[in-house]
Amino acid sequence: MRKIIFVTGNRGKLREAKDILAAKDIEVIQNNHGYPELQEDELEPIAAYGAKWAADELKMPVMVDDSGLFIHALNGFPGPYSAFVEENLGNQRVLKLMEDETDRRATFKSVIGYCEPGGEPVVFTGTVDGNIAYEERGSGGFGYDPIFEYEGQTFGELGDAVKNTLSHRRRALDKFFDWLD
Ligand code: IMP
Repeated sequence: MRKIIFVTGNRGKLREAKDILAAKDIEVIQNNHGYPELQEDELEPIAAYGAKWAADELKMPVMVDDSGLFIHALNGFPGPYSAFVEENLGNQRVLKLMEDETDRRATFKSVIGYCEPGGEPVVFTGTVDGNIAYEERGSGGFGYDPIFEYEGQTFGELGDAVKNTLSHRRRALDKFFDWLD
């Protein structure tokens, strides 16, 4: 079984990556070391920089996942600031910002960065389109899952098993897996 070090402190991301990659015979091992997060408008350079920094620091091949929720009516906010907004404002405040908006469209994006020590990073992007719900629904998943609707049900309602068949993270990990192969 191939092993991959995943540098993340996010338990939701870890659980999903473990489940998705286990089906491909890859064991995901968490590393909590962390990495500096660049301030950028796009997730790709953040993931690339983090993967390279962590691989060089830990002296082993690593994978990172930088992800975010891009709400169309808010010009892509919170996007690269998704972690900060989730920690400091939370889903209810995001729903409040969306109160008078009829355009509910949103895109979840995950960028997997991979790098070997001394090497150049590669990135794999996955996206999924949906809508911002009017209230939190469902107890599955993590983070923004209870307010992100995919074909009428929130990711929180769909639960991990279904979410992992179609999520942004699944789509990015599929590309990563094809490249590894
Ligand atoms: P970062 O990738 O560490 O910058 O953080 C991304 C933010 O988006 C964190 O607050 C995550 O909890 C949140 N997030 C990322 N992926 C998902 C997801 O699949 N569902 C819900 N929230 C997510």
